[in-house]
Amino acid sequence: MRHFLTLKDFTREEILEIINLAFKIKKKSKEGKRKKYLKNQTLGMIFEKSSTRTRVSFEVGMYQLGGSALFLSSNDIQLGRGEPMKDTARVLSRMLDMVMIRTFSQNELEEFAKHSSIPVINGLTDLCHPVQLLADYMTMVEHKKDKDIVVTYIGDGNNIASSWLILAAKLRFDLKIASPKGYECNPLIIDYALREAKKSGAKIRFYHDPKKAVKNADIVTTDTWVSMGQEEGKSKRVKDFKGFIVDSDMMSLAKNNAIFMHCLPAYRGLEVSEDVLEGEQSVIFDEAENRLHAQKGIMVWLDRNRK
Ligand code: CP
Ligand code: NVA
Repeated sequence: MRHFLTLKDFTREEILEIINLAFKIKKKSKEGKRKKYLKNQTLGMIFEKSSTRTRVSFEVGMYQLGGSALFLSSNDIQLGRGEPMKDTARVLSRMLDMVMIRTFSQNELEEFAKHSSIPVINGLTDLCHPVQLLADYMTMVEHKKDKDIVVTYIGDGNNIASSWLILAAKLRFDLKIASPKGYECNPLIIDYALREAKKSGAKIRFYHDPKKAVKNADIVTTDTWVSMGQEEGKSKRVKDFKGFIVDSDMMSLAKNNAIFMHCLPAYRGLEVSEDVLEGEQSVIFDEAENRLHAQKGIMVWLDRNRK
């Protein structure tokens, strides 16, 4: 049985297998054919942080696959009152078929998975957001047919940036990350990605100057400067990220046909300007929709791999 905790646990071939499955399910679904791959199965969705896309896409995805989903807010379940992850995992394993967790610590998620006898999916931790990146990859493939794509991520070296690093290293594309000093990516993820990139041939570079990083980009992407749980440090962050907004000046330095991506929610006037977000180069709603398709691929793949 497999879990979906980080893209590090997957080979390039496995990631592409999930993506292809997701594309197949998406195509069929658009034709009105929804195969009930997960008939009568139940997905539990534990949320210790807020969510719009993750909650709705998992719930609707499971429904479209013939199953049902339970929203379990940590405010309401005993986990929030201190019941250990390992007990929660063993109880839920007796009742559910699969579980998705959005939490703070990757270690807590891994602790849950260690005690779970059903597949566990990472719905975002402080460390990474792997389901988002599969949706992002689908969006890249749909909008950029050329080989040798260059992706530039401008902003906080957070969970999204780390996930881009792992994906680029595994799937072999060029990634440039520009963050202000002090906001670089997790050093362990950087080391991992550089080692993987050496094997795969991916080109990964880091910058402090976003204008240098954005040159020649086919895809420009960013994320909030203030992730969930960092609200208290917001005003310092807004100062420290000066010059990192993706606005039309920044976009004009990328390739003419570059696209703009953002996992959402976006904060206009901070990490991205209104005109870029709403402009012709922006593919943010295709990207959001692909959450639904990517996660259906993940759930079906996990179900197949337990048999
Ligand atoms: N991108 C993303 O995970 O969005 P939500 O926080 O709304 O789930
Ligand atoms: N980096 C953001 C992503 C939200 C989808 C956060 O962790 O809040």
